[in-house]
Amino acid sequence: MTVRLARATTKVRVVFLKTEPMAVRMKTKIVLLGPPGSGKGTQGEKLSEEFGYVRMSTGDMLREAVRKGTDLGIKAKGYMDSGALVPNDLIINLMKEKIASLAEGTGIIFDGFPRTVEQADALGEQIDVDLALNLDVDDEELVKRLTMRRSCPQCNAVYHLLYNKPQNERFCDKCGSVLYQRDDDKEDTVRNRLKVYRENTFPLIDYYDKKGKLVTIQGVGDINEIFDKVKKAIQ
Ligand code: AP5
Repeated sequence: MTVRLARATTKVRVVFLKTEPMAVRMKTKIVLLGPPGSGKGTQGEKLSEEFGYVRMSTGDMLREAVRKGTDLGIKAKGYMDSGALVPNDLIINLMKEKIASLAEGTGIIFDGFPRTVEQADALGEQIDVDLALNLDVDDEELVKRLTMRRSCPQCNAVYHLLYNKPQNERFCDKCGSVLYQRDDDKEDTVRNRLKVYRENTFPLIDYYDKKGKLVTIQGVGDINEIFDKVKKAIQ
C-alpha cells in the first residue's frame, strides 16, 4: 500500500493513492537439474527471455571453447565427444570466474552445472542457491529428443525436427545461422551420457532435497505448459 502525506492549510491529510499487491520475491539463483535432453536449455532460455536472468550453460561455454580452440576447449573435447564429464577442476575454475564477473543481485540460471557433488559444494561456497528445479523425463523420450535435436552454433537456440520445429529445417529462427547436429547427439553417445548422468548427477536430486531446495517438475508435454510450472516454482 502506498501512502502519501498531502499538505492542507490547517491540518495534515492522509491520501491513499492505490493498493498494491504484496511484492513477490522471485527466486534468483536457480539450478536446472535433469538428464541430457530433459529441456534444461529450452526452459532456461525461456526464463532468461522473460525475466532477464543470465543463463549460464557450461555445455554452451565448453562448445564455444572447442570451436575457438582455446586451452580449455582442447582439454574438454575428448570428454565431450564420448559423453563423459569434463574434469571437476576445469569446470569449477571456469564457473568461479564467470560468477565473480556478474554484478551482485543478478538473477542466474545454472544450466548443466553443477553436475557432481564436488561442483555443487564449490557453487555453494560462492553463492546461495535458492532453488534446484529438476525436470523429470524417461530415457526413451530423451533418446528421441536428442537424436532429432538441431542446435544453433551462434545463439545456442535449440529445436527439434518433430516437437519444436524451426520455420526452415536448416536455419535458426532467431539469428538465421545454419543449424547443426551436435556430435554427442548420436544414439550411442546419448546412451553413454544417460549412464554418466545416473552415476554422477542423479545424486544431486537428493543433495538439494536435503537442503529443502528441490522442486521436481514432469518435463514431458507441451513446452509452454511446462514453462508455466517452472514460473510457479520460481515465485
Ligand atoms: P550439456 O550441453 O550441458 O548437455 P546436457 O546436460 O547433456 O543437456 P542437453 O543440452 O543435451 O539437454 P537439455 O536438457 O538442455 O535439453 P534441451 O532443452 O536442449 O553438456 C554437454 C557435455 O559438456 C557433457 O556431456 C559434458 O561432457 C560437458 N559438460 C557440460 N557441463 C559440464 C559440467 N558441469 N561438468 C562436467 N562436464 C560438463 O532439449 C533437448 C531436445 O528436446 C531439443 O530438441 C528440444 O527442442 C526438445 N524439447 C525440449 N523440451 C521438450 C518437450 N517438453 N517436449 C518435446 N521436446 C522437447
